[in-house]
Amino acid sequence: MSSAFRQTVRGMRDLLPDEAEKLRSIEESARELGKLYGYREVITPVVEHYELLAAKIGEENRKRMYVFEDLGGRRVALRPEFTASVARLVATKMVSVPQPLRLFSVGSLYRYDEPQFGRYREFWQANYELFGSSKPEADAEILVITDDLLKRIDLRSYHLKINHVGILRGVLDGEGIAEEQQNNVMQLLDKKQWEDALSLVREAGGSQRCLDSLRSLFEIRGREPVQVTHEMGEVIGGFPRALEAVKNLSGILSLAEESGAGIDFYVEAGFARGLEYYTGMIFEIFATEMDIALGGGGRYDKLIELFGGGMVPAVGVAPGIDRMSLALDKQEVVSRESAVERVFVIPVGEDMVSEALKVSSLLRGEGFRTEIEAMGRSVSRALSDADRRGITHAVIVGAREMREGKVVLRDMKERSQETVSLKRLFERIKETQ
Ligand code: HAM
Repeated sequence: MSSAFRQTVRGMRDLLPDEAEKLRSIEESARELGKLYGYREVITPVVEHYELLAAKIGEENRKRMYVFEDLGGRRVALRPEFTASVARLVATKMVSVPQPLRLFSVGSLYRYDEPQFGRYREFWQANYELFGSSKPEADAEILVITDDLLKRIDLRSYHLKINHVGILRGVLDGEGIAEEQQNNVMQLLDKKQWEDALSLVREAGGSQRCLDSLRSLFEIRGREPVQVTHEMGEVIGGFPRALEAVKNLSGILSLAEESGAGIDFYVEAGFARGLEYYTGMIFEIFATEMDIALGGGGRYDKLIELFGGGMVPAVGVAPGIDRMSLALDKQEVVSRESAVERVFVIPVGEDMVSEALKVSSLLRGEGFRTEIEAMGRSVSRALSDADRRGITHAVIVGAREMREGKVVLRDMKERSQETVSLKRLFERIKETQ
């Protein structure tokens, strides 16, 4: 076999048990949280029609899609996000389901990004979408659920960077700049190329007043939502649609603050996102130690209509599971999984193997994670292996103790042991956790 097969394809990863456990644990928190807020899970295919996925994903993302022809000659792609698929569902199979509709998804996505820290070609997202409401409380709910997830996984230090695409688009609309040109400006802003964005607006016929407003706007940013949105309003006063957008953003931020969630916002007037379907509030999550976003979201009121499902306003967020896991590592947050007790059952000699199997079943029946010594090793060798693998409790099953309905329970951390009856075993493990 060629040695190339011994490695994963560039940008693809094997997740070994520790990494897989961390990822699944975040996924579990995301799923539980979804249920708590009334989001029901939908499972959509990894392979979709190229046109669906490419429709409003933006130029940069479009170039990075895994596109191929299937054996039936269809032009298909691996999903680079969930939003288009979920919107397709709402526009087709769920048109008659009463709104608001809250849908959750989790799974792997594919983008031909340049592999580097936190950037993979296969990655995982949790995804929450709320359909049917254009009210600021819907936007606020998405911000609050995002913050709640970060708190639940114990991330300590992060903020939400937030803006509203209607502000920039409102200014550009006011100048009669076509949507396609606006999209190009947004792509440049997403890459923080402010000067290039301004040059493009000039080329597209933007007036000096518009350029001045944009230049001032790009400098407005800060942690005080009331003050920052006030400054934004002052700068774009001459553009009524942009002003409406500022009011909308300010309303959303007030509701999110009043919810008591205590979200740390950073409002940045020149912030844009690469995805083209956004029509309202947009935001990204940043952990203090990392300059790549842990998640992103926003309002997109026209996508369902584009997919033929009528006017259905929508807002959502996709927290990236891989990057949240990296942020937890950076902040040295201990995974909850590692705090769970793990029991190792060791038979003393071959004669006790069947008894040990029975004890293991009893333990699992009580919900303890239980492994059994399966290599016929001596008690001392099995114990040193258990130590190395972070086992919390060993249960030694010997003939003498078993005759009295007892086993030896060893607390691996304290390095102490006691003989306990099978009846007391479960309680003692819990007590010595
Ligand atoms: P996005 O900003 O493209 O938004 O992706 C959301 C998150 O997915 C990113 O913040 C990041 O954590 C993760 N992510 C993206 N690309 C990669 C990569 N190459 N490697 C690792 N992680 C990555 C969306 O996908 C929108 N669909 C979000 C949304 C939902 N908007 C409304 N509803």
